[in-house]
Amino acid sequence: MRTHFCGLIDESLIGQPVTLCGWADVARNLGGVCFIDLRDHEGIVQIVAEPSDAAGNAEVVAAAEKVGYEDCLRITGTVRRRQSVNAKIRTGQVEVVAERIEVLNKADPLPFHHHENPGEETRLTYRYLDLRHPEMQRRMRTRTKLVSALRHWLDARGFQDIETPILTKATPEGARDFLVPARMHPGEFYALPQSPQLFKQILMMAGFDRYYQIARCFRDEALRADRQLEFTQLDMEFAWVSERDVQDTVEAMIRDVFREVAGVELDAAFPRMTYAEAIRRYGSDKPDLRIDLELVDVADLVKDSGFAVFTGPASEAGGRVCALRIPGGASLSRKQIDEYAAHAGKYGAKGLAYIKISETGEVSSPIQKFFDEAAFAALVAHVGAGNGDLVFFGAGKYATVSDFMGAVRLKAGRDFGLVRDGWAPLWVTDFPMFEWDDEAQRYVALHHPFTAPAVDDEADLRANAATAVSRGYDMVLNGNEIGGGSIRIHRSSMQSAVFELLGIGREEADLKFGFLLDALRYGAPPHGGIAFGIDRIAALMAGTDSIRDVIAFPKTTSAQCLMTGAPSPIPDAQLAEVHIQVRVPAPSAAQ
Ligand code: AMO
Ligand code: AMP
Repeated sequence: MRTHFCGLIDESLIGQPVTLCGWADVARNLGGVCFIDLRDHEGIVQIVAEPSDAAGNAEVVAAAEKVGYEDCLRITGTVRRRQSVNAKIRTGQVEVVAERIEVLNKADPLPFHHHENPGEETRLTYRYLDLRHPEMQRRMRTRTKLVSALRHWLDARGFQDIETPILTKATPEGARDFLVPARMHPGEFYALPQSPQLFKQILMMAGFDRYYQIARCFRDEALRADRQLEFTQLDMEFAWVSERDVQDTVEAMIRDVFREVAGVELDAAFPRMTYAEAIRRYGSDKPDLRIDLELVDVADLVKDSGFAVFTGPASEAGGRVCALRIPGGASLSRKQIDEYAAHAGKYGAKGLAYIKISETGEVSSPIQKFFDEAAFAALVAHVGAGNGDLVFFGAGKYATVSDFMGAVRLKAGRDFGLVRDGWAPLWVTDFPMFEWDDEAQRYVALHHPFTAPAVDDEADLRANAATAVSRGYDMVLNGNEIGGGSIRIHRSSMQSAVFELLGIGREEADLKFGFLLDALRYGAPPHGGIAFGIDRIAALMAGTDSIRDVIAFPKTTSAQCLMTGAPSPIPDAQLAEVHIQVRVPAPSAAQ
């Protein structure tokens, strides 16, 4: 149908005939001369329909006058140099003088115009229109390039791409499973994979040595800007490795791919930090190192104050009192400080004490009254606060305080323009093996239950479960967890011990993971791996905050596809076939 792409018409084609297909972006009628911006996936070129030109004729102008926004056109014409150059577009030096304009499909008036910045709900309902937008085309192209670069990198190094089942048994990654009724087995269900975790481990036991898969994963969990119900991992596993083997390989891969796809040169060796250090200094296990602000522990300086909110956590094991100095923070008004407290509240803070020192040295602080003068001065000096600064304080349980102060740090970093340009990757290592779940009154795995503990001995692990460190690691980039993995348990007895510590009894373990425990007994090599969030990496590369912008058909935060209307009710007859009877909860209970 066409000889060239709109966006690729350039000066080398001047004087030549071309036939182009595309959408009418903007059409302007300047008294007898019509201009149409014709758009395809490569970009935009200006079309001119003019009666006075040698090539022009009244028919073409009449056709051009009728062109509407997003009509599908096929245009034949001749390329010529443009009189007024448009530096903003790639084809800005040239234009095409139309000789024939065919309307291949007239578009109805559109529900929205690209240039009007439609809301996300509208964009997702008419996703096909949204995706036509050059910016969305660019983002999706970045994703394509990313996946292609990763595949090339891995194929060249002998990694084998192997598919694993989608209809399978639950693999716990900490979320709820999506279930699929098994028609042939009434009352039984498949689970969609939360990740290919167990299959990739079994592949190592099956002799494949190095595996990868661009794998779709399904997790029924709360959606956020960086989380979807279904998302894509670059899933990898290696046999006969220790953590540095995996980390060094994938670090080189990430560095090469960022250079190739995004033209970004990442650090020659990513910094490494233990989980404990990351939480202590940044209040997060995925610290954004582009922000220099750090948390400072002040328990020793406040434990003898008269402020009960501080003295308790300052002297108890498992408590924390820490400070965050914001240079220039004294410019915050009372109302803005309250906004910070409300923000911290979302992360569990019951309050957010502060000391504000104005440019002229006046102190305002709701906690000054609890300190004698020397102790207060010592506190101010310890956190390094000077004129013009504001210091926030958090007190309470170690994990809660770290979490909300980490959130305050990020907000302050953004609000005060303290986020450096550029890229800050790092490895976070030495995660705790278990986390105590107060509600369930048992341990839960911080990574997943197949992650190896640092200790080799089951008795040792049992004796020191609360403080046990795992062989898990995350790759973090600009405050995003872009990948997570570990060295796995490769002995059946250790796997059983970990199941036990997680409150998974022998019977349940056999029922759910019997195949794994068996496979571990028949010569399972040491192995480990990692999975990267493709959506998150693509979003970072494309310079957008939400992974929805790099997924062609994402779900909304209320877990719906606005374009197709999924999820939707199923007719009773179809439900009966899969032996399902639906009990819809009362509206208040339906979450
Ligand atoms: P994990 O659960 O850490 O590990 O997932 C690996 C990476 O996948 C991305 N990710 C997500 N992206 C979008 N939406 C989600 N809901 C979502 N959940 C996770 C993140 C994360 O770092 N089987 C293990 C990997 C392993 O041990 O090898 C796993 O799935 O970028
Ligand atoms: P109050 O005496 O209760 O008004 O508290 C004095 C200051 O301490 C207020 O600014 C509160 O926001 C703050 N505050 C209360 N609880 C905490 C906490 N757990 N961590 C940090 N600050 C707190």
